[in-house]
Amino acid sequence: MNRIISLINLKGGVGKTTTAFEMGYLLSTRYKSRVLLIDNDKQGNLSRALGVYQEDTYCGTAKLMGGQKVVPQQTRVEHCDIISANMSLLTATYKNKGQAKGYLQLGGIEDGEGRPYDFIIIDNPPDLGLNVLNALFVTHDVIVPTKIDLWALEGLDIIRDQVQDIRRINHDIRPPKALVTIYRSSPANTAGMEWLRDNGYETFDTVIRYSDKAVENTFCGQALQEYSPRSAAALSYRRLIKEYWESVR
Ligand SMILES: Nc1ncnc2c1ncn2[C@@H]1O[C@H](COP(=O)(O)OP(=O)(O)O)[C@@H](O)[C@H]1O
Ligand SMILES: [Mg+2]
Repeated sequence: MNRIISLINLKGGVGKTTTAFEMGYLLSTRYKSRVLLIDNDKQGNLSRALGVYQEDTYCGTAKLMGGQKVVPQQTRVEHCDIISANMSLLTATYKNKGQAKGYLQLGGIEDGEGRPYDFIIIDNPPDLGLNVLNALFVTHDVIVPTKIDLWALEGLDIIRDQVQDIRRINHDIRPPKALVTIYRSSPANTAGMEWLRDNGYETFDTVIRYSDKAVENTFCGQALQEYSPRSAAALSYRRLIKEYWESVR
């Protein structure tokens, strides 16, 4: 059986897409797992990062939303496939209001050669639209990338409540776990991390450190692991994946 991970936060710019790409890259290349990435954001940033963005097609995630059978697309990263997104996801979300069971097929989805995936990683937009709720219905692990700055922690309670609600239907979903991203050592960061702990949020021990390299690299087609493997951010992601791997084995 596969393990389905959702990256979610109601804010943009907190490292959701970067985390999805780095986790997918590391699980497939270093941990020899079969990975399926799902771009669940109509902006299509994850699709762009993997070089498979197409503007004028009815995208894979839109088909998923409509309950059509979807065949994942290969990427240049071995054992790492994708279901890509573009603006057509918006129309699909709108058209399928009130019913959308398409994401349930993710439980048994296979690659082009009929093999199941070990991990499915869903990169979500910064909202709780129907496509995000559908993703949560099939998710096991909810990771909340959190950049600690002013108001950064706003909205975390909404996600926690939503996950709690979904638990009545999806008994396998675990409580959300915060991942501090774009971290720079500062009093604000320390205070933010204390706040998370004091308010009962589970957090990863690993924090993802800030790197100029990560800013340069935005959606240029390479994972940070390739572009700048020695950067603090790339190193942080290798630590994160080790921590994650050990938590699900
Ligand atoms: N560890 C990091 N250090 C510095 N910049 C980062 C880091 N992680 C992500 N970024 C940058 O922050 C911006 C937002 O990241 P992104 O992953 O697109 O966030 P989201 O998907 O939550 O909107 C991008 O420009 C990205 O390059
Ligand atoms: Mg994003």
